[in-house]
Amino acid sequence: MTTSTQTTPVKWEDDALVLLDQTRLPVETIYLRLTTAEEVWGSIRRLEVRGAPAIGMAAAYGLYLGIRGSEAQTYEAFWQELNRQADYLGTSRPTAVNLFWALDRIKARVKKDAALPIAELKAAVLDEALAIQKEDAEVCRTIGEHLLTLLQDGMGVLTHCNPGALATAAYGTATAPFYLAKERGWNLKVYADETRPVLQGARLTAYELQQAGIDVTLICDNMAAMVMSQGKVQAVVVGTDRVAANGDVANKIGTYGVAVLAKAHGIPFYVAAPLSSVDLATPTGADIPIEERPAEEITHGLGKQVAPDDIKVYNPAFDVTPAQYITAIVTETGIFKPEEIAKSKQ
Ligand code: MRU
Repeated sequence: MTTSTQTTPVKWEDDALVLLDQTRLPVETIYLRLTTAEEVWGSIRRLEVRGAPAIGMAAAYGLYLGIRGSEAQTYEAFWQELNRQADYLGTSRPTAVNLFWALDRIKARVKKDAALPIAELKAAVLDEALAIQKEDAEVCRTIGEHLLTLLQDGMGVLTHCNPGALATAAYGTATAPFYLAKERGWNLKVYADETRPVLQGARLTAYELQQAGIDVTLICDNMAAMVMSQGKVQAVVVGTDRVAANGDVANKIGTYGVAVLAKAHGIPFYVAAPLSSVDLATPTGADIPIEERPAEEITHGLGKQVAPDDIKVYNPAFDVTPAQYITAIVTETGIFKPEEIAKSKQ
């Protein structure tokens, strides 16, 4: 069950995908009503919807929007159209494997239901998208329960980017224990890194936790070492966009640095990962495709020009934290050493 304090980033309403435009938060609460796969592609690319599970959910609805008007008369023609739309949506962002997981899951459902008439296959696509969203809330809550066993009342916990309710169907992954702790009357003190360059920590994590009445303190990314050295943080919990088979983890740029700092200070570093983010087909972190985003996110990142014209920019949106820096990866199936992540899917 979603608690009333949480904001829903993705909704299926009146035959359309309704997204909370996350580029406008925290200043404006604006909902976008999308009715085509092209619009969904654009919203994912522009980060209007973002965060690995939310991207997967949006793509799933996008696939339905892409095929609902199909005039295919045969299963083969419908299957081809479905694959064309799925391939297209898959080009929106490369790193979060949840996007591909959701599209593949819908394709598998259609394959299973191949004997049904086309109209029922279309309904099955929507049904599967709705199921993905419904299950995600339960998955996040379960991850939160597991993570809570690793934390204690009164702890300071640092997080990076937004692995929150805004990135999922409810609770978030890495933020789920914060919501559950609040429900239980615990007092966790959360430190949210601002998360350069597009400030998911400041704009989204600080916002949603504050809205929920959770004790959250915003810090700049370059303050994490100081905060750790001052003994304010007893654990780090982050989300992920993809976990490779060897336990390496891709997450928002800057996560790797936080993991190195945590190790240097003897602080446990936990990764919250729904199984939809665990990609055993990708052997190591080096095999994870890392998205590069436009230079303007850095040169004009805070709403005004903050760098010289024509400066060379390198803007990878994610980095890979090697397994050796990770204390545990927490999925809905339990708590795993990174090198044993394959067991999470057995
Ligand atoms: O570029 P973003 O905002 O989509 O990046 C999001 C993250 O890196 C999150 O930490 C990750 O997707 C996990 S969300 C539960």
